[in-house]
Amino acid sequence: MIWSVVLTTLVATTIARKLPSSASSLLRRQHDNLPANLTWSSTSQLVYPKDDSRHDAGIKDPSIISVNGTYHVFASTAKSAGDGSYSLAYFNFTDFSKANSATFFYLDQSAIGTGYRAAPEIFYFEPHKLWYLVYQNGNAAYSTNKDLSNPAGWSAPTNFYNGTPATIENNLTGGYWVDMWVICDSANCHLFSSDDNGHLYRSQTPISKFPSGMSEPVIVMSAPEKFDLYEASNVYSLGNGTYLLLVECISTGGDRYFRSWTSNKIEGPWTPLAATEQHPFMGAANVAFDGSAWTKSISHGEMIRTIVDQSLTIEPCEMRYLYQGVDPLVTNVTYNNLPWRLGLLTQTHSKC
Ligand SMILES: *[C@@H]1O[C@H](CO)[C@@H](O)[C@H](O)[C@H]1NC(C)=O
Ligand SMILES: *[C@@H]1O[C@H](CO)[C@@H](O)[C@H](O)[C@H]1NC(C)=O
Ligand SMILES: *[C@@H]1O[C@H](CO)[C@@H](O)[C@H](O)[C@H]1NC(C)=O
Ligand SMILES: *[C@@H]1O[C@H](CO)[C@@H](O)[C@H](O)[C@H]1NC(C)=O
Ligand SMILES: *[C@@H]1O[C@H](CO)[C@@H](O)[C@H](O)[C@H]1NC(C)=O
Ligand SMILES: *[C@@H]1O[C@H](CO)[C@@H](O)[C@H](O)[C@H]1NC(C)=O
Repeated sequence: MIWSVVLTTLVATTIARKLPSSASSLLRRQHDNLPANLTWSSTSQLVYPKDDSRHDAGIKDPSIISVNGTYHVFASTAKSAGDGSYSLAYFNFTDFSKANSATFFYLDQSAIGTGYRAAPEIFYFEPHKLWYLVYQNGNAAYSTNKDLSNPAGWSAPTNFYNGTPATIENNLTGGYWVDMWVICDSANCHLFSSDDNGHLYRSQTPISKFPSGMSEPVIVMSAPEKFDLYEASNVYSLGNGTYLLLVECISTGGDRYFRSWTSNKIEGPWTPLAATEQHPFMGAANVAFDGSAWTKSISHGEMIRTIVDQSLTIEPCEMRYLYQGVDPLVTNVTYNNLPWRLGLLTQTHSKC
């Protein structure tokens, strides 16, 4: 029995590699590993802001990659305090049980410098053999580093655009331009962003020109009710020609959750997968907690990536998502002073 399963798998894998792509995707389609009805289990709070002279209220917006057995996390730190309110921190660990004891390296100690910096995304751009950190600083910015393990080595911010693109300026009425996300296919690199006003934007540049040459953004998707398409988009490759898009939304009760779509092109069009508050990709409706439900919001974060390149490929059989959550009983502080903490979701009832 076991041998025949192993053999069939081996044969299928071998055939899949040799067949033209239409046949190989047909074989893979038999293993549709991304269920529309997802369920997750969550840890309790794993990472807190440090109790140090910075007096940060929250740790937020984590981007994470696992390389050579080490998890590397880049995150925003937040508090309500004039100039220093949003900043970036880096830390690493080998086991989630040790995540909260990892030392923070505050990235304003590198050439990234002080001032408003938030919502980082880390990825390795193979053609340049460089790590890129993409973040918001009023514009969409990036810094680079040859060595992920040397957080002092990040370069000064360079903006992707000359100011706010007209399409965004004209559409964000009352919102904010936030949460930049870069993903590349074999031809282009794409830059997604949101406006807290119901629009998801996308720019592109040929992979040979990246990081310069980002085009005027186009509106990928819009929602008449802005809370249904709010911010914090993630786009991943599933490694088989299918892409997964997640966008953070705000529920009728004011809590954060994610809607999802799939497409066979990063340009879209995007087809809804788990795309409602009742059946979200991740949210209060489909997350079970180990211990007490410390948050009702499943908010801004990232899938753990182990494949290290600009394709941002994830394995739908083994999805884990590092997110920010917040104690729902804390209502007496301003938004920037909310006590955001990081927790980890693991997909349960995986189809694999
Ligand atoms: C790619 O994989 C996902 C997850 O297993 C699956 O849902 C999708 O149908 C696959 N796409 C193709 C084109 O095979
Ligand atoms: C989704 O899956 C869970 C766990 O298997 C199950 O309890 C639930 O009823 C399913 N929901 C839907 C809408 O299929
Ligand atoms: C991971 O290990 C490989 C092989 O030792 C090395 O070339 C690479 O630089 C390491 N990556 C990082 C980010 O440390
Ligand atoms: C972990 O971070 C520290 C800085 O806080 C850095 O010096 C060290 O090289 C990093 N370790 C790895 C394995 O990347
Ligand atoms: C949003 O941007 C599009 C594309 O530039 C533009 O046609 C449209 O008028 C803008 N909408 C508003 C409300 O400004
Ligand atoms: C908010 O309420 C909590 C608990 O009720 C209290 O400990 C805290 O001091 C309050 N914070 C402010 C800024 O009032």
